[in-house]
Formats: sequence, C-alpha cells, structure tokens
Amino acid sequence: MPFVNIKKQYLAIGMLVFVLLFFFNSKPTFQCQFNPDGTAVFPTIYGITPTYARLAQKADLTRLSQTLMLVKNFHWIVIEDSETKTKLVENLLRESTLKYTHLNVKTHKAKHSTASGVEQRNMALEWLRGHLKKADDKKGVVYFMDDDNTYSLKVFDEMRKIHKVGVWPVGIVGGMRVEMPLVKDGKVHGYNAVWKPFRPFPIDMAGFAINASLFLDVPQAKFSRKVQSGFQESEILKYFTTKDELEPLAENCTKVYVWHTRTQKPSILNTKKLKTPVTPDDNIEV
Ligand SMILES: *[C@@H]1O[C@H](CO)[C@@H](O)[C@H](O)[C@H]1NC(C)=O
Repeated sequence: MPFVNIKKQYLAIGMLVFVLLFFFNSKPTFQCQFNPDGTAVFPTIYGITPTYARLAQKADLTRLSQTLMLVKNFHWIVIEDSETKTKLVENLLRESTLKYTHLNVKTHKAKHSTASGVEQRNMALEWLRGHLKKADDKKGVVYFMDDDNTYSLKVFDEMRKIHKVGVWPVGIVGGMRVEMPLVKDGKVHGYNAVWKPFRPFPIDMAGFAINASLFLDVPQAKFSRKVQSGFQESEILKYFTTKDELEPLAENCTKVYVWHTRTQKPSILNTKKLKTPVTPDDNIEV
C-alpha cells in the first residue's frame, strides 16, 4: 500500500525533525554566561530598594519584580522600613524567582530630616560589603532603586559598562520632563537641573550606578541624615567620583531609560459607611 508507506516516511521525517529540534532546544539557555577564567561576563547588578507598607505596595513591588526577572545576573536587596519583616514582602520575594536578600530596619526620623531610605540603604550597603568580602567574584554594580520608578531593561545594559560611576538622564523628575547631565566630547560638563542646581551632583538616585568594589575600597561611604533634602545623591557620590570622572552612558546622556514615576496615593471608601453591605475583604492580601 504505497499511500500508507508515504505516510510512514513523512511520519519518520517528522519525528526526526522533532527530535533534532528538541535536541537543539534542550541546550541550556544562558542565564549566566562565563568567561574562560570562570568570572561572569555580566557583572552582577545589586539593586538596593527600600520599601514601606502602604496600600499600593504590593502592586508597585509586583511591577518592579517582574521587570527585574528579565535582568541577567541581578541580585535584589529589599529593605523594609519596619520592625519586622512582613509576610507580604516575604511571599512576593519568594514567589519572584529572583535572587534576593530581604532585610528590615525601622526608620527613627530625627527632627528636621525628611529624607527617606537612609537607614535602609545604609543597611543594604553594610550587607553588601560583608557579601563582597566573602565572594570570589567581586565584580558588580550598585544601583539605588525606588520601588515605584519605571525601569527600561536598557538601563541595566548601560550600567554594566561602568568603570567607577556611570550617569544617565532620568525622565519626569525635579519638575522637569527630563533631568540630565550635559555632555560634550564624551565628558559631563554640567547639568540641566533647575531644582537646587547648586547641589554638587544635581541628579536623581535613579540616574547613576556605582562599581560595587568601590564600596570595599571606601568602607566609610554611606548615606547621612545630616544633609539637607535633595543632597543624598551628592552625599554618596562624593566618596567615589568628581564631575570630571563621571561616565556618561545612554548614548552620551541623550536617551531616557528610567522614569521617576510616582504611584498616586489611592483613596478608599469607608465601607462601614456604605448603605449596601459588601463582602468582608479584611483577610485578603492586596
Ligand atoms: C559619545 O561621544 C564621544 C565624543 O563625541 C564619541 O566618541 C562616542 O562615540 C559617543 N558615544 C556614544 C555611545 O554615542
């Protein structure tokens, strides 16, 4: 029966193609690529994110964590502003598939200081120093990330090029469409900031990243409550770099790959005052 024979041949060829496809597909995808000497091609990015309990926290952290899941060799350091670690953050991190470190420290705000995240970022830096001292591969990049900003994957590609400190534009911040270093002949010669332009480094936290090994070279480098508002960035950068040494990235600071978005504070109706009864939702994690 020639008809059946042809079908069998097709079947055999089909199976062969299937097996070949399976074989080529089963090679591991390179989550982490290595140089011949065993060090990672992509330096680890240590993202440091302070966070605090609020209604939109899980929504913000979900959006951010799912961006970060697309970044190669990423290690997320999340520091809760709380006395104890919360179940909400713990579960979110565990379910994320990310490499992470979960810390917590409660802010005890001093008078005249409105800066947020100081204690949390400093605790993360302390952890990082301990971690790097023990690590074989000390190569890495430190990036301070708010939990409600918007990050293009491109910003992570850029920061892996850093030698000491890299800078780039940040969208929608400081009352401007974009706040950015001004670059001429591949060097930063100024900034376009209008909010406190007299700051030594008038750039947002999202607009720079630092070579991680510098934190071992300069063990005293940390954030401070003693500086006026808007000076946290300058406070940390002064330990590592000068304006002339800044490395302009994102095509000589002509591209926006990160936005200082803010999640609006949601307004919730007081359900106890509503006429129609609603399902009790007190036990649902939102
Ligand atoms: C940045 O500018 C310098 C000097 O003009 C140039 O040599 C370099 O190629 C530029 N880099 C990028 C990525 O555009």
